[in-house]
Amino acid sequence: MSNHLIEVKNVYKIYNPGENEVRALDGISVTIDHGEFVAIVGHSGSGKSTFMNMLGCLDTPTSGDYYLDGVNVAGMTDDELSDIRNKQIGFIFQGFNLIPSLTAQENVELPLVYRGMPAEQRRQLAEEALTRVGMEHRMNHRPSELSGGQQQRVAIARAIAARPPIIMADEPTGNLDTRSGEEVMKILHELNEEGRTIVLITHDNDIARQATRAIRIIDGKVVSDTLASELQKHDV
Ligand SMILES: Nc1ncnc2c1ncn2[C@@H]1O[C@H](COP(=O)(O)OP(=O)(O)OP(=O)(O)O)[C@@H](O)[C@H]1O
Ligand SMILES: [Mg+2]
Repeated sequence: MSNHLIEVKNVYKIYNPGENEVRALDGISVTIDHGEFVAIVGHSGSGKSTFMNMLGCLDTPTSGDYYLDGVNVAGMTDDELSDIRNKQIGFIFQGFNLIPSLTAQENVELPLVYRGMPAEQRRQLAEEALTRVGMEHRMNHRPSELSGGQQQRVAIARAIAARPPIIMADEPTGNLDTRSGEEVMKILHELNEEGRTIVLITHDNDIARQATRAIRIIDGKVVSDTLASELQKHDV
């Protein structure tokens, strides 16, 4: 058994097997350790989201092994995967994915409701998380009453409320103006400094360069794995 947080071994994800098959992941092997801040970078269609969905236990590979904290999750059932996600992983998406009819606080509490957490504890964790991202003054606002940057901060609060050790973010700055994007990156940095492992998906080299390590994917294959600072400015 390894002591890597994440160990992906020769993973394939093949859509539409047969003539029109798409090898979205084409033999990927990668390890990520506790406390890393890794960017997965590549062009549109290169397989980034497919890879994150697999790393995040939202989907399983067609073949290959995926050890998360030493446990092979590649062959797990949906229920088992959802259990692992609940305990280990917080997600942030490009489109925020907040529920329009719920307030910021209710959105942050929702995953805690699913975990069966008592109301008082939920309220406390949600308040803490919203304060952590500077949204304590907007807890009773609905998403339509918030700016894009504020909505993404609420989504980050939702991702961190249960204190998962891993944060996965798929283009978290993609719908934001430069300044709001910088705020989101700053929060991700702070979360990493507090010891969380961050996996950041982006097509943008300038964003990827702000991670510590950058894994570049082309056509479902890892083509480079370097210090993020070694990424060129405009070659993606
Ligand atoms: N459910 C699916 N069925 C068939 N093909 C799919 C499916 N999902 C993704 N693909 C294909 O797999 C490849 C990788 O898609 P993926 O969404 O992972 O790319 P991406 O790098 O995240 O792109 P983007 O930057 O545009 O989000 C693409 O060629 C895509 O068309
Ligand atoms: Mg994508």
